[in-house]
Amino acid sequence: MTTDDSQAATKLRATMVSELHDLGAIRSESVAAAVATVPRHLFAPGAPLEDAYAADNPLVIKRDVNGKALSSMSAAHIQVVMLEQAGIEAGMRVLEIGSGGYNAALLAEIVGEQGRVTTVDIDPEIVERAGACLRSTGYDHIDVVLADAEEGVPANAPYDRIIVTAGAWDIPPAWLEQLSPDGRIVVPLRLKGVTRTIAFYCDGEGGLISRSYGPCGFVPFQGAGSTGRGAPVLMRGGSFAYRTSRENEETGGYETGVIAHGPSAEQIADRYVESLRRWAREHHRRGAATIRYLPKSAAVPAPSSGLIIKRHGAVVVSWP
Ligand SMILES: C[S@@+](CC[C@H](N)C(=O)[O-])C[C@H]1O[C@@H](n2cnc3c(N)ncnc32)[C@H](O)[C@@H]1O
Repeated sequence: MTTDDSQAATKLRATMVSELHDLGAIRSESVAAAVATVPRHLFAPGAPLEDAYAADNPLVIKRDVNGKALSSMSAAHIQVVMLEQAGIEAGMRVLEIGSGGYNAALLAEIVGEQGRVTTVDIDPEIVERAGACLRSTGYDHIDVVLADAEEGVPANAPYDRIIVTAGAWDIPPAWLEQLSPDGRIVVPLRLKGVTRTIAFYCDGEGGLISRSYGPCGFVPFQGAGSTGRGAPVLMRGGSFAYRTSRENEETGGYETGVIAHGPSAEQIADRYVESLRRWAREHHRRGAATIRYLPKSAAVPAPSSGLIIKRHGAVVVSWP
């Protein structure tokens, strides 16, 4: 890295911070200060500086044999959104699930010297790489652990905050056991084919209740908690329909459509379109839903409808 590079990096970092402010992603002084401090490009060695400091683009670090991303440095935008959802304070103990180094360094800046950051990854190469980046940038007091995070990291528990940075299908019991009673989990959770980053608080009855949520995309969880990826499909007899989207050049946004196959394709497509329209009419208000997670061990009886059944519990989405 030449001096010029490092000056260019400082400039690009300042621009990224101001973009993240403009996008409404940065909302607190502590997150702004952390993003302004951590040299993001040093966690993406080899990548062009402009790519390292692009607010909205992830950088893929590792792919599987079919070319699918297994690990990435997440886009700064979603990292910041999740940090703000987590509401981390100085002195806290934080567990990051899914390592890369950069986000752990941001966490270390926010919790300060009195806090403790643990980051865990299932992939030895990623652990090695994250550890090396953290050591070379001076964040050598972070615990970088190699493990399947399905079991959390009991050695450093309890945690005030758990931030999950891989797309999870469920919330394993270990995460709840290792969370302080007034703690928070921020997790990109798969719900019927979509992923939402949800800030969950303990509900006092053994379960979790959302305070905020938003759209996101993440590489999938691996290990004991991994599942196949899917898309929501409506099936009737020998016909099926699924949702798709395309850019709308007039509005600059996206429009949703339905593709159907089979002998009753037209009817099943109509049905799917009607349910999308109903959702748009009745529920398409950002942040309007309450999402609860009820582990099997929770004292609360699960409602009889509106349940999304998971392996270790169920998700309940309700609308006002
Ligand atoms: C998006 S990357 C993490 C990005 C990182 N937080 C950063 O600083 O940009 C997701 C990571 O989750 C890891 N992962 C997936 N399943 C896991 C599991 N069961 N336990 C621990 N890590 C897992 C992957 O190996 C991958 O490195």
